[in-house]
Amino acid sequence: IPVEPFDLVIIGGTGDLARRKILPALFRRYLAGQMGKGSQVIGAARTEMDTEAYRQMVSEAIAEFGGAEAKNKTGLKKFLALISYITLDAKGDTGWEALHDAVQTDHVRAFYFSVGPSLFGDLAKRLQKHGMADDQCRIVVEKPFGRDLASARELNKVLARYFDESQIYRIDHYLGKETVQNLMAVRFGNMLFEPLWNSQYVDHIQITVAESVGVGGRGEYYDRSGAMRDMMQNHLMQLFCLIAMEPPAKFDPDSVRDEKLKVIRALDPLRPENIVRGQYEATETRPSYRKQVENRDSTTESFVALKANISNWRWAGTPFYLRTGKRLRERASEIAVVFKDAPHSIFGEDAGRHRNILTIKLQPNEGIELGVTIKEPGPGGMRLIDVPLDMTFAEALGPDQADFPDAYERLIMDVIRGNQTLFMRGDEVEAAWAWTDPIIAEFKEGEPPLPYATGSSGPDEALALIHRDGRAWREIK
Ligand code: BG6
Repeated sequence: IPVEPFDLVIIGGTGDLARRKILPALFRRYLAGQMGKGSQVIGAARTEMDTEAYRQMVSEAIAEFGGAEAKNKTGLKKFLALISYITLDAKGDTGWEALHDAVQTDHVRAFYFSVGPSLFGDLAKRLQKHGMADDQCRIVVEKPFGRDLASARELNKVLARYFDESQIYRIDHYLGKETVQNLMAVRFGNMLFEPLWNSQYVDHIQITVAESVGVGGRGEYYDRSGAMRDMMQNHLMQLFCLIAMEPPAKFDPDSVRDEKLKVIRALDPLRPENIVRGQYEATETRPSYRKQVENRDSTTESFVALKANISNWRWAGTPFYLRTGKRLRERASEIAVVFKDAPHSIFGEDAGRHRNILTIKLQPNEGIELGVTIKEPGPGGMRLIDVPLDMTFAEALGPDQADFPDAYERLIMDVIRGNQTLFMRGDEVEAAWAWTDPIIAEFKEGEPPLPYATGSSGPDEALALIHRDGRAWREIK
């Protein structure tokens, strides 16, 4: 979809996120013809440098993180010509007048706050003071949106002083993933699934976001956060809401977000026995979590698994099992909707146990698969086997259509188009913190996280969490 020319200002333009995600995403959208004539990207940060040096930095970032498109040298040269740099002080007046003069008043203007939340208030205030916070202005804020309910409320309050909710785009990049949106298309575009989408037919739902990487160079941030704040409160809860919500009347921002909010509000409080926390240990070649974060006594979790229950008509009696962690066996993320057994097997005991599982795979290969039971071909009698009805996009749609844009590409373009459907509303973020806060508070008092081996699927107790209900996690592979 074409978009009008726009100005995008990346505050924190020299940072890791800008280099890894935002700038390569913009470059790909430029190549796709979505940055109309007159569009510009302004990098802004405290570092003193000129536009030439910044363009050099952008060019290196694209070479490193831009994928195959980075080879398009002519395209890169033209893209760099749209980029400039301004030295800007979030807490002082340096750079603000220059920024005011640089942005074009007849364009949509998006200010991407790619900095820690402690600066959000300062930035919002200065945008207003320097006459840039008008109707055409949008702000994009990254996670973490606070570290608990109180700080998230405070951030919402501060931003609301200068901006209307319709101008605030709280990013959760999981919502920009192709399959996550496809999940909604599959749920609400087909007659097939919705009648079965409830506790009468669904035994349980699993959501796994497993990473093989460790905390890398982000030890300082991560050790103050842990898996619960870094992944569960936002990414996994967002997936959870989309899978569990009632059908919205329309695919528009408030209809969707109202339904997601209702899910969070219907959640039972988390009980300590329904949570398992873990922390990865060293191997011969890889350091332990504690070593990586340089904190020998750290009690922060790098893994969390939990069981959640929703008290409403649709889901009462169907548990949701969620888990996420670092340094696990594989990078694999999926949602599995496990349907109940058929009420009676006409094929007798020998036919074994068969059930339908709808798997929505987010990573590494995106796609949706429905496990169905069929007869094993051949003369061997009525032997049943499970086979996947595969909706893997690459095969069904051909290689061109299956070349999805990265989550950031889609989300940035949604900001420019003014579509907030895939962004979190202030009340949603607060409700999510309200659910996780009491349990995070208990972490401090309770047992330290359980050690687990690097390359495993987490602590054994996480297996027990689901085994005790007569169920099993799907294998991480
Ligand atoms: C980020 C977390 O939000 O998401 C990281 O802070 C995590 O810790 C990352 O590694 C995972 O994102 P993706 O898209 O690679 O699954």
